[in-house]
Amino acid sequence: MDSKNVFLLLCLCFHQVYLSDIKATNETDNSFDILVLSQHWPITQCKLWTYVTHPGGKCVFPEKKNQWTLHGIWPMSLDYDKPMFCNDSWPLDRELMKSLEPDLDQAWTNVYKEEEHYYFWNHEWTKHGTCAIVLEPFDSQLKYFKTGIEWNRKYPIGDMLEAAGIIPSDSKGFTPRDLVAAVKAKTDKYPGVVCQKINGVQFLDELHICFDKQLNVIDCSPAVNTYTCDVFEGIIYPATVLHDAQSATNEKATQDNDFDILVFSQEWPVTVCKFWQQLSPGGQCVFPDKEDQWTVHGIWPSKLGQKGPGFCNESWAFEPEFVKLLEQDLDQVWTNVYKETEHYSFWEHEWDRHGTCATTLQPFATPHKFFSKAIEWHRTYFLTDMLEAANIYPSDDEEIYADNIINAVKADTGKDPMVVCKYFDGVQFLEEIRICFDKELNVIDCSPTVYKTCDVSRWIVFPASP
Ligand SMILES: *[C@@H]1O[C@H](CO)[C@@H](O)[C@H](O)[C@H]1NC(C)=O
Ligand SMILES: *[C@@H]1O[C@H](CO)[C@@H](O)[C@H](O)[C@H]1NC(C)=O
Ligand SMILES: *[C@@H]1O[C@H](CO)[C@@H](O)[C@H](O)[C@H]1NC(C)=O
Repeated sequence: MDSKNVFLLLCLCFHQVYLSDIKATNETDNSFDILVLSQHWPITQCKLWTYVTHPGGKCVFPEKKNQWTLHGIWPMSLDYDKPMFCNDSWPLDRELMKSLEPDLDQAWTNVYKEEEHYYFWNHEWTKHGTCAIVLEPFDSQLKYFKTGIEWNRKYPIGDMLEAAGIIPSDSKGFTPRDLVAAVKAKTDKYPGVVCQKINGVQFLDELHICFDKQLNVIDCSPAVNTYTCDVFEGIIYPATVLHDAQSATNEKATQDNDFDILVFSQEWPVTVCKFWQQLSPGGQCVFPDKEDQWTVHGIWPSKLGQKGPGFCNESWAFEPEFVKLLEQDLDQVWTNVYKETEHYSFWEHEWDRHGTCATTLQPFATPHKFFSKAIEWHRTYFLTDMLEAANIYPSDDEEIYADNIINAVKADTGKDPMVVCKYFDGVQFLEEIRICFDKELNVIDCSPTVYKTCDVSRWIVFPASP
């Protein structure tokens, strides 16, 4: 088994764990706190079936084109120790289901053609339905499945996404925030996002809507399942079942690993934290000890005027060993602000995506050199000092314009940096400052100097507190 398969397997395992395959430690405790309506995107399910779990398998789709279908309605307890298989002597009664079959095939489709549809419904019933029966709207098989059909109509994920301009595409990556916001716009509560990695590409798999036991919609927490979704990467909401290797637009399929410049990006942890708290209600942030300090986002080999390359060497995947000697420094200067994500996940993402492309340059030839260079550049291009020298301090109400920031950095480096903003509720916040280098590692002008996320005519908040 090659390393990619091992990786995939790991992802699948995490997925399963999240979905509820841990037997409750206390078998007699079938209590729960919330209900999760889990709906999935049939195309992602089909990719998984056809290319991973049942190679060559065929799929069944509902008739409506953008229709998301039920995975299940799951009683969950907030400590993840959820009840399952609550009544072993209550298997699915097929006769009873006959009248619902046509509707279930549309709303609760078993995408896996080689598997009988009852197999799926029986699984969901015995595992989750038998635990939900303590609530009146679920106290019989018919009611459990009828409520499923009704909720699938009432919470049409495909339509919700479409209303926000999110339509399936094999190449466009959406941010978790785009997806969360689209559903929240309709339900007023945070949904949960679940991703599925297939051959190194992450696809949108499920969207969850959470309910209290009175069946009021409530926030799902976390809104983004960080075991399955790499929050540092775009999420593909696929339009076709095509194998990603066949998709011409997939950046990994291109062999062109050339680049012209290096972009050294530093971020303002307070803005990054704001983003995290929007994405993940109740989410916590990690800050460097020195609280006015900017932190590294990454060092990115780039082509002039465009992105990429990315993921240049899949057989050189990140290992914690790479940062062993640098870890304490990296925690301070290349901080993973997102507390609920795995400690190494930020560095892993940056190495796999960008570091592997920089190795053609001697100063970045090994992981150790790559991470060491970031620590060195963070010290050399210490943004806090550059901004303070121009009298720019974090403040929630001071008016700062992109030009002020550009001039402050240019006064030190002699070259134009690039300013990057992030919008929340109509206000633009300073998110990143990027410094550009040629391949001999001389600082050069960045172009453009203001990333498209900033409106140069309006002031930018350099926030003091999240
Ligand atoms: C198991 O659940 C029962 C009933 O809720 C409770 O009385 C008992 O203390 C629990 N046992 C453990 C080990 O948690
Ligand atoms: C389990 O299912 C059987 C068969 O439907 C039913 O008679 C019994 O009351 C159920 N037990 C519980 C604890 O709900
Ligand atoms: C990819 O990584 C492997 C493992 O470190 C290395 O041996 C190989 O030379 C690298 N390939 C390229 C093209 O850099």
